[in-house]
Amino acid sequence: MNWQIEAIRRDFPILSHRINKERLAYLDNAATMQQPRPVTATVDRYYRYDHANVHRGVYTLSERATEAYEGVREKVRHFIHAHSADEIVFTRSTTESLNMVARGFGDQVVNAGDEIVISVAEHHSNLVPWQQLAERRGAKLKYIELNPDGSLDLENAAQQITAKTKIVAVAHVGNVIGVLNPMSALEALTHAVGAYLIVDGAQAISHLKVDVQALNADFYAFSGHKMGAPTGIGVLYGKAALLEQMAPVQYGGEMISQVTRTATTYKRAPLKFEAGTPNISGAIGLGAAVDYLDALGMNAIQTYEAQLMGPMLARIVAIDGVTVYGPQTAADRLGVVSFNIDGVHPHDVATGLDMLGVEVRAGHHCAQPLMQDLNVTATARASLAFYNNQADVDQLIDGIKQVKEFFLHES
Ligand SMILES: Cc1ncc(COP(=O)(O)O)c(C=O)c1O
Repeated sequence: MNWQIEAIRRDFPILSHRINKERLAYLDNAATMQQPRPVTATVDRYYRYDHANVHRGVYTLSERATEAYEGVREKVRHFIHAHSADEIVFTRSTTESLNMVARGFGDQVVNAGDEIVISVAEHHSNLVPWQQLAERRGAKLKYIELNPDGSLDLENAAQQITAKTKIVAVAHVGNVIGVLNPMSALEALTHAVGAYLIVDGAQAISHLKVDVQALNADFYAFSGHKMGAPTGIGVLYGKAALLEQMAPVQYGGEMISQVTRTATTYKRAPLKFEAGTPNISGAIGLGAAVDYLDALGMNAIQTYEAQLMGPMLARIVAIDGVTVYGPQTAADRLGVVSFNIDGVHPHDVATGLDMLGVEVRAGHHCAQPLMQDLNVTATARASLAFYNNQADVDQLIDGIKQVKEFFLHES
C-alpha cells in the first residue's frame, strides 16, 4: 500500500511540535482531529478574499460566499453518498444534529406509550436528547445491551425493538469501545417494525466510507472537527421526505419564505433548518476537509488505520496489569482503545502520558451508563487518525509501561 505517511504528517504542522519537551504523539483524535494545511489555508483564503454574508446580497462577494457555502453541501452529499444536496443540513455539531432530530422530528412521531430504543454504549449526545423526548412525550426509553466482549447484542436488539418502537438511535462506531455496530441487521430490525433509524456517525466519519443510502439511515449526524474541519460545523443528513416533514427548531432570518404580522411560512429543507447567519467559514473548511479525505480515499484510510490498530491493541492487551475494554482483537474495532492500568487512576495515567508527550483522554467519555455497566467511573482512551504512525504507537506503549512502573513502584 502506497501510504505516504511522512508527506501526510507534514500537512499537519502541529504534529511536529514538541509537548513537554517530548515528541508529540497525538492520540486523542476521537475527541477532535487536527486540521491539515489545506483546511486552514482555505478558511484563511475565504476570509481574505471572499467573505460576505450568504443568501442575502446580490453583489459579487455575497454571491461568491454563497456559491462556496452551497458548493460544500454538494461535496458532503457526494462524500456520504446522499441522494440530493437538499438532504444535507449544516449544523453546529453532532450534538446539535441529534437534538434537532429529537425535537423537530421525534416530537412529531413519538406519542405516549411508544418506545425509543438506543444502546447502552451511546455518547450522551445520542442519549440525553432521547431521554428528554421520552419524558416530553410520555414514551419509554429502552436500551440494547452489550455482549460480554462489548459488542452490541443483536439478540437483545431483536427483543428490544418491537411494534411499539418509533425510533432506534445508535452510534455507527462507539466512542469508548470503538466497535463498528452491525448496521445492516439493526436497519432490518428497525424498518421491519416501521421505526426510524437515526445514526450517530461522529466516530465513523473519519475512519470508513460512509454511504447513507447503503445504510438506509433515516438520519445520520456527524461533526466537522472529528474529520479535520474546524469546530462549530456539523452535518445532519436526513432523507428528503423526512426533512420536509421535520419541523425547524430555530426560527428567524434566512429560514423563512414569508412573514406577516400573524404568520410565517418557511423555506424548504435544508434552509428551513439554518436560521440566522450560518457558520460560513466552518462550512467552507468542512469542504476542504472533505476534499482532503477524498484525495486520500476513505478505504485507504481504513486499511492504513487497521494496520496500526491491530498491533497497538495487541500490545496494550499484552501489558500485565492493564485492562482493555471491549473486544480484545481488532476485528470490527475502529479508532479507539479504552483501557485502565489496574490500581492507577486514569487521570493519573493521562497526566503521566502527557509528561511523555502522549496525549490521550481520560474520563467517562460522555458515556456514563456504559461506564456503570463496565463497573468503572473512568478509563484512559487512545484514539487514532490516519496521520498517526508507528512511532506514536511505540511511544504510547512505552509510555503506558513507564507510567505503570512509576505509580505502582511508588505505592
Ligand atoms: C459517538 C459520539 N457522538 C457524539 C459526539 C458529540 O460530538 P460533538 O461534541 O462534536 O457534538 C461525540 C464526541 O465525542 C461522539 O464520540
